[in-house]
Amino acid sequence: MWGGRFAAGPDAVLEAINASIDFDKRLYAQDIRGSKAHVAMLAAQGIVTKADAKAISEGLDAILKEIEAGSFTFTRALEDIHLNIEARLTERIGAAGGRLHTARSRNDQVATDIRLWVRDTIDDLDVMLADLQKALAEKATEHAATVMPGFTHLQSAQPVTFGHHLLAYVEMIGRDRGRFRDARARLNESPLGAAALAGTSFPIDRQATAKALGFARPMANSLDAVSSRDFALEVMAAASIAATHLSRFAEEIVIWSTPQFGFVTLSDAFTTGSSIMPQKKNPDAAELVRGKSGRVIGHLIGLLMVMKGLPLAYSKDMQEDKEGLFDALDTLALTVAAMTGMVLDMVPNGQAMKRAAGAGYATATDLADWLVRELGLPFREAHHVTGKLVGMAVERSVPLERLTLDDMQSAEPRITDAVFDVLGVTKSVKSRTSYGGTAPKNVKAEAKRWLKQLAKG
Ligand code: ARG
Repeated sequence: MWGGRFAAGPDAVLEAINASIDFDKRLYAQDIRGSKAHVAMLAAQGIVTKADAKAISEGLDAILKEIEAGSFTFTRALEDIHLNIEARLTERIGAAGGRLHTARSRNDQVATDIRLWVRDTIDDLDVMLADLQKALAEKATEHAATVMPGFTHLQSAQPVTFGHHLLAYVEMIGRDRGRFRDARARLNESPLGAAALAGTSFPIDRQATAKALGFARPMANSLDAVSSRDFALEVMAAASIAATHLSRFAEEIVIWSTPQFGFVTLSDAFTTGSSIMPQKKNPDAAELVRGKSGRVIGHLIGLLMVMKGLPLAYSKDMQEDKEGLFDALDTLALTVAAMTGMVLDMVPNGQAMKRAAGAGYATATDLADWLVRELGLPFREAHHVTGKLVGMAVERSVPLERLTLDDMQSAEPRITDAVFDVLGVTKSVKSRTSYGGTAPKNVKAEAKRWLKQLAKG
């Protein structure tokens, strides 16, 4: 009736909006794994015959091979991966194929498939994140005593070591891995057998399918099983936090590799040139790690928006979970790989870092601490005296250690020559031996601890 106004017929539009095969074909291996577990259980429970189950299982194996060989034809008219595989099964083995879907719905099937996929994917991610930690911890060992400026507000604060800075990211990534591990434990329950939403009257064995698929247990509530995507949200939240860590590090690499900072040189393998400016070496990989974090976070927000208004149980809106989830985890994996490559190749410029570490009166705190330690001044007073001396040095445009003893004594008469000992950046970092501090010996020990832990896997 309204066809005159529409260029495409309604069926074509429906197919376009409804079909998920273009992206959910990626779940084929998990779908087949789930179906094989399901049919084995149906046979064990006497719901289908052993002969039918065997034909179905072998048919599924053959379809797996077809898909992996690239000879399987995916059809949009068949909507999704579940129906594509089932239709092909019946084509191959005849009517028995139609028995696979007994006591099952696409609702519990797809929930099972995604959980399996997420589990596989975060297991791979864990290995990649551990590799990045290892690359960082190794660099940290090498540069446990390499002095660089430490910043707050991106202003010179106190000298730190490059190794210490890298180990900060090792810690963050350690927590990222922990978040994925926690999410994994929570998502590792089987929705299979919840059927469409209410369970089934067939005498199925959900414990058996859960066990066969490596799940810790079946999900206890059929409505929850088919309508929850909090596991995907949780994993994307973990991914967003990890991406944020990588993005902060990427930003630092972008800054450090400018000629103005010159703290690190990136390898040719992770930089690009300019088509017009011959001198350029751009940190594209780092910029993209930074940029792509936005994409990961966007996908988390996207799915939160999809889910927030959905009544129980399944609604087709939930089909929108996949593209964002896939892309979020693909993107994170890619950025982790890029970061690992950059770290392995990155060459720090110790001299430039050390020079910069002394700029901006970064050892002023060391001077104040000396006044407290050696002269017994209350810290607030020491802060004030040091502030005066910094002001004096600023006025003369010299570093603190170039003030004379007379200058020093004009602010606090009891200051002695010994004060000059603490004004150097190397001394400064060496003195920061408190637990978790930047002293090279701490950094060496921490890097060693991490490398030992990472070797254990
Ligand atoms: N392709 C669907 C999805 O990804 C599978 C579940 C379809 N269920 C349904 N009741 N139409 O969500």
